[in-house]
Amino acid sequence: MMKNNSKIFGLAAGAFCLASVLSSCWHSNQDPGYEYAPNMYDAIAYNPDQKNPTFKDGKSAQKPVEGTLPVGWERYHYANTMEGYEAASAELKNPIAKSDSVLAEGKNLYLNMCGHCHGDQGHGDGSIVKLGKFPPPPSYATGTSSRGGGMKDLTDGKIYHTIVYGLNLMGSHASQLSPEERWKIVMYVHELQQAQ
Ligand code: HEC
Repeated sequence: MMKNNSKIFGLAAGAFCLASVLSSCWHSNQDPGYEYAPNMYDAIAYNPDQKNPTFKDGKSAQKPVEGTLPVGWERYHYANTMEGYEAASAELKNPIAKSDSVLAEGKNLYLNMCGHCHGDQGHGDGSIVKLGKFPPPPSYATGTSSRGGGMKDLTDGKIYHTIVYGLNLMGSHASQLSPEERWKIVMYVHELQQAQ
C-alpha cells in the first residue's frame, strides 16, 4: 500500500515537472507571454518622445502656444532687453519669505534644473561642462556677468529675468518652472553667490 502511494506521488511529481519545463519553453523569443494589465505598457496616450502625425513637426512634446499662460501663472511684464533686465532688477523682490524648508526646496530644484551646467556649488563646473561639451558658465561667487558687473551682485530681479528668458547659450526655463519654483531657486542662487 505504502509503496503504491509513493509510486503515484512520484509519477505526479514527474508529470508536473515535465509540464512546467514544457510550458516555460512554449513561447518564442518574440512573444513575451502573458502580460498583466497590458494598458500599463502600451498606453493609449502618446508618450512625449513618440512621433505624432497631428503636429507639423511630427513630435508629441510640444511647447506651450505662444502668449498662453497655465492656470495659476502670472504674466511676466519685463521685455527681453537690457532695459527690461535693469527694470526687473530695480522693481522685483522675492515674494517668498526665507526659511530653511524653502531653501531646501530651492536647492533641490536648482540641482535638477541648473546644476548640470552651473555646477552643484555654482562654480560653473556642472556635469555637461566636465564632459567638455559645453563652455563653463561664470561662477556665481567669483565670475563676471556678460551683461556687466560681478555674478555675486546679481539681484533677485536679474536672476529671475534670466530664468524666464535665458541668456545666449542658456535657454529659457519659463515653461519648465512655475513662478513660485523660480523664486525658490533665486533664493538658493543667493546662497551660492556667497559660497566660495
Ligand atoms: C544649458 C546650460 C545651462 C542651464 C541648464 C542653466 N544655465 Fe544659467 N547660464 C548658462 C550660461 C552658459 C550662462 C552664461 C551666459 C552668458 O553670459 O552668455 C548662464 C548664465 C546665468 C546667469 C547670469 C545672468 C547674467 O545676467 O549674467 C544666471 C543668474 C543663471 N544663468 C541662472 C540659472 C538658473 C537659476 C538656472 C536653472 C533654472 C540656469 N541658469 C540653468 C548655462 C545654463
